[in-house]
Amino acid sequence: MSAQSNAKITPLNRVWQADDLLDKDNSARRVYDSIIDLAPSPENPTPMVRLSERMNPHADYEVLLKLEGMNAFGSIKDRTALYMLRGLQLKAGQILVEPSAGNTGVVKSMVESEAYGGKYVSPNQYESKLNVEAHYRTTGPEIWNQTKGDIDYFFAGIGTGGTISGVGRFLKEKNPNIKIIGVEPATRQHTLSGLKRITGLPDEHFPKILDRDLLDDLISVTDEEASRAGIEVARKEGIMVGPTTGAVLFAALNSDLPKNGKAVLISADNAARYVSAYSKYL
Ligand SMILES: Cc1ncc(COP(=O)(O)O)c(C=O)c1O
Repeated sequence: MSAQSNAKITPLNRVWQADDLLDKDNSARRVYDSIIDLAPSPENPTPMVRLSERMNPHADYEVLLKLEGMNAFGSIKDRTALYMLRGLQLKAGQILVEPSAGNTGVVKSMVESEAYGGKYVSPNQYESKLNVEAHYRTTGPEIWNQTKGDIDYFFAGIGTGGTISGVGRFLKEKNPNIKIIGVEPATRQHTLSGLKRITGLPDEHFPKILDRDLLDDLISVTDEEASRAGIEVARKEGIMVGPTTGAVLFAALNSDLPKNGKAVLISADNAARYVSAYSKYL
């Protein structure tokens, strides 16, 4: 742990009585009625961790990783899911189906086909304005509060485009000088699940909710660059993240953009699901 760390650890070189260790004003209870109460919000933001010089060699460039893998269900999608589900009225007997990359056509036909008689309902993160709204109302304000508005760059991967559009709109409204940088896979065939290569995409396949006018730059990263950066941040900082965080990290540390000021990077999820994906590069 670095000397600047502000982690509260009781010193070991004195004898403690049980009562010394109690939470006197009951502020640390963290007892909830439902897992949904853990949802991230400006009152309950996901944490940010500053990269040390082990990972970030640029002295005038501060890099903060916002750890969405700390969410109750393990990723930034907790935000989207909650907002979209709140906007959905399910009737008795209806079944919820949600596409992930590659099966939007299957899901679309289940929802629209007369043969199913309205049995299937989909929030559809690829088209729902509530996806963008979730980030405009939560992720964006959290970043603004956590940096006290002192932010120069925002980096995020692009999948549905919800994160970058919602956060980008919020930050640009607060300060149009903040640069919004998208990160995409370097090729169409890639293993960075959750991300989409948008360069060269025909309009009909372009993410419908992505507001491309918000993007100041778009950086392509290969699978190998992403995975190696994901492994590096685990080894050097002890932060266990998924390969798409590696992609965003690689972009933020190696792009041609000036390496000064403050950057906030979205770490969309943690490493738990990617052990086999990483093993190729270990
Ligand atoms: C695992 C994962 N899923 C999805 C996304 C994309 O988010 P969105 O769908 O909001 O564009 C990212 C972005 O980095 C990601 O890393």
